[in-house]
Amino acid sequence: MAKVLLENIEKSYAETHVVKDVNLEIQDKEFLVLVGPSGCGKSTCLRMIAGLEEISGGTIKIGDRVVNHLSPKDRDIAMVFQSYALYPHMTVYDNMAFGLKLKNRRHGLGRFLHRAEMRQRDTEIRAQVQRAAEMLDIGHLLDRKPKQLSGGQRQRVALGRAIVRQPQVFLMDEPLSNLDAKMRVQTRAEIIKLHRRLGITTIYVTHDQVEAMTMGDRIAVMNDGILQQCDTPLNLYHHPKNRFVAGFIGSPGMNLLDMRVIKSDNKLFLELDNLQLQAPARSQKVLLPYIGKTVAIGIRPQDIYDSAYLPATLQATPGNTFHARCEVTEQMGDATHLFLQAGDHALVAAVTEKTAPKPNEDLKLVIALERIHLFDAESSESI
Ligand SMILES: Nc1ncnc2c1ncn2[C@@H]1O[C@H](COP(=O)(O)OP(=O)(O)OP(=O)(O)O)[C@@H](O)[C@H]1O
Ligand SMILES: [Mg+2]
Repeated sequence: MAKVLLENIEKSYAETHVVKDVNLEIQDKEFLVLVGPSGCGKSTCLRMIAGLEEISGGTIKIGDRVVNHLSPKDRDIAMVFQSYALYPHMTVYDNMAFGLKLKNRRHGLGRFLHRAEMRQRDTEIRAQVQRAAEMLDIGHLLDRKPKQLSGGQRQRVALGRAIVRQPQVFLMDEPLSNLDAKMRVQTRAEIIKLHRRLGITTIYVTHDQVEAMTMGDRIAVMNDGILQQCDTPLNLYHHPKNRFVAGFIGSPGMNLLDMRVIKSDNKLFLELDNLQLQAPARSQKVLLPYIGKTVAIGIRPQDIYDSAYLPATLQATPGNTFHARCEVTEQMGDATHLFLQAGDHALVAAVTEKTAPKPNEDLKLVIALERIHLFDAESSESI
């Protein structure tokens, strides 16, 4: 078990700069999720930690060792890929035992092993594979070949193969994305349980923010090769550092509108066409330098309410109310998503199932203003 440290990590392929000055410290035993849109450099980061890809700059440490120039087999890591990467001609048992046998052979090279010693080692490997297989509920499949398994079972074999090696660090690259939705949720929970049990530092790559939110002790959000923010799921949700993180974390995504800050009657308002909102009390001061300018306003769908069903803590006022046409309604069971059109602007609200508008019905909606987010229009940083 070990801490992983990335210092000023860079990666370029000829002209293209794909990872830009990434600094990240992953604690011993931590489950860190690396998340971001397709092509942002997640797999490249993971492959550089694994040693499958050379770094163009910076330092990678695993435990106390700088591993920049160590080959993958000497880094004491185990990697799980989206594609399982099982040997098709080998049984599940042999797939899981293969790495251990290879390791033993390497250790044994150059010296003569007694038959008894070899038998002893085989017995140990068998016990290790058996234990991992039971943990993953694939003990009954050890004699099968990969093609005789379902996708979920194959992925568990790939996980098992990583576990038996007892590495210092697990590196997982979208291991669940080939599974169907239900299997994904189930295997997600299994990986978390496994992590609790084994306590092995894990770096887990996904582009799915729900997976990131549900699995990570901390989440590192990347975009365009740059690490945007690394924090706990709730801190990312409640205190996104910039517009990108705000829009990426949360489902449905945050509504983002560019609104002008205006002053009237000694109060600040946010204005966009027919939409006028009072600036939240806590933000009156920070918005002073923005009077006459545009700021980006972030409103979570969960912070927009149907005025007919307001929580006790919220009252409709002219400064927090707007009208919109509800074009599409999605009933999710636990919430209802409304796809709204307010003038030229599209918004999404997540309300309770009590709201059941007819197609294109006009609704009166109320925003919990104290919960809105503000971003500088130019730098995109949180205000
Ligand atoms: N061998 C290569 N040569 C040139 N460019 C590459 C190479 N490998 C990756 N890239 C580029 O580097 C960028 C980052 O790729 P990477 O695979 O790390 O993305 P990712 O975040 O894992 O995306 P995804 O979610 O789609 O897996 C992409 O723009 C990709 O096109
Ligand atoms: Mg990838």
